[in-house]
Amino acid sequence: MPAFMEPFRIKAVEPIPFPDEQQRRDTLIAAGYNLFRVPASQITIDLLTDSGTSAMSAAQWSALMTGDESYAGARSFEQFEAVMQELTGYPEIIPAHQGRAAERILLGSVLGPGDVSLANTHFDTTRASVESIGATAVDLPVTADPDTPFGGDIDLAALKEFLDAPHGTNVRCVVMTVTNNATGGQPVSLTNLTAVRRLCDEHGIRFLLDASRFAENAYLLTQRDPECQALTPRQAAQTIFSLADGCWASLKKDGVANIGGVIALHDAEIARRCRDRLIETEGFPTYGGLAGRDLAALAQGLTEVTDPQYLRYREQTARWFGDQLEDAGFPVVRPTGCHAVYIDAARLLPHLCPQRLPATALANQLYLAGAVRVSELGTLVFGIPGSNGEPDRPAPRELVRLALPRRVYTKSHLEYVTDVAARIAESPDEVPGYRITEQASTLRHFTAVLEPITSGR
Ligand code: F0G
Repeated sequence: MPAFMEPFRIKAVEPIPFPDEQQRRDTLIAAGYNLFRVPASQITIDLLTDSGTSAMSAAQWSALMTGDESYAGARSFEQFEAVMQELTGYPEIIPAHQGRAAERILLGSVLGPGDVSLANTHFDTTRASVESIGATAVDLPVTADPDTPFGGDIDLAALKEFLDAPHGTNVRCVVMTVTNNATGGQPVSLTNLTAVRRLCDEHGIRFLLDASRFAENAYLLTQRDPECQALTPRQAAQTIFSLADGCWASLKKDGVANIGGVIALHDAEIARRCRDRLIETEGFPTYGGLAGRDLAALAQGLTEVTDPQYLRYREQTARWFGDQLEDAGFPVVRPTGCHAVYIDAARLLPHLCPQRLPATALANQLYLAGAVRVSELGTLVFGIPGSNGEPDRPAPRELVRLALPRRVYTKSHLEYVTDVAARIAESPDEVPGYRITEQASTLRHFTAVLEPITSGR
């Protein structure tokens, strides 16, 4: 791979903390062995998420000063609306304060109790939104084949079978999450999206995108799909949007800003319903829970994010970091995407069964060894809690995600993480499993309290 470098220089810096071994141990105990409960002041490298953690550009910081804080019809909304319309081709643009607010409002406007939503994978907050309506979320991801360039696709045979079955009449929408965060940040192919469009047309079903990482999916299309090679990333993104009826997105990712979400649609009637709901929970439809300055920063971010130089750097960083981690002895999910590198914790820690939470165990070990914070996407997040003392139903995979905040860390920060990983990989069998001692009934990973299992396997 040719050498690459960050396509920006640094204008404002922030010192990072270096807690020592004792502090890390004390901090993790006080946090109930849950990295979400660890204060950022105790983190050296924070790869928990790429969401809301971006470094804004000089142009975005200056856009903040031009933000129009009018309650209704602000100029910043008009800028945001115009950028979103040009990008998506959808006329109806509704801001929201973040992705889960947007998805709850949109899904609440198209689903009712007993309905079904099918997806390549519903992200955890999306699933929670569907279930809170009394509807059912069904995931139909392709079986992960390490060599496939489009591991984010939906299983088309399974989708067709579901739609053709008698219960297929309960399906109200097909959701394609681009890129598919829950299955390794893999992109969705244009062929797959086109086939979903056709099936939705045949069955009269709405086709929605969770477009939180639309630019990264678009870039990977230009790299991996011969039919998209001639397109710019922006044109590829426009092609993706053109296939669906509408989308929601967390703009804390490819909006390259620290807060924001959006609903964008063709259908004026659904948009009207969304705006009515938005007023109840988020605010007036021209600000949707955001400040005018946030909308101004987003309008600029949504313009910058499809820059080919920037997207190439995202893709190359993930690939290079994946190679480094693999050399350090970590089993890396291939191919890497853009927003994160995923590690197969079950392969690294075969002595831990899923009920011993191997992905949580690896995440906690990265903190103990070097104050690196990552997120678990295994049984703690995606497992089904057992009732009446039954063990949890394990997640399909025990993944750990090292997310890459946009424009925040340099190669040398990631080399530090690789050194920490190498130390763990020297003696993986010393990593203890965990059990949950306290958990909420939904989205338990955010607040659960855990403890290490020091004896037995
Ligand atoms: N959809 C996807 C695909 C996401 O990855 C997220 C958030 C959301 C929706 C919800 O958006 O956080 O703005 O409310 N993902 C974050 C992550 C939390 O770390 O991957 P939100």
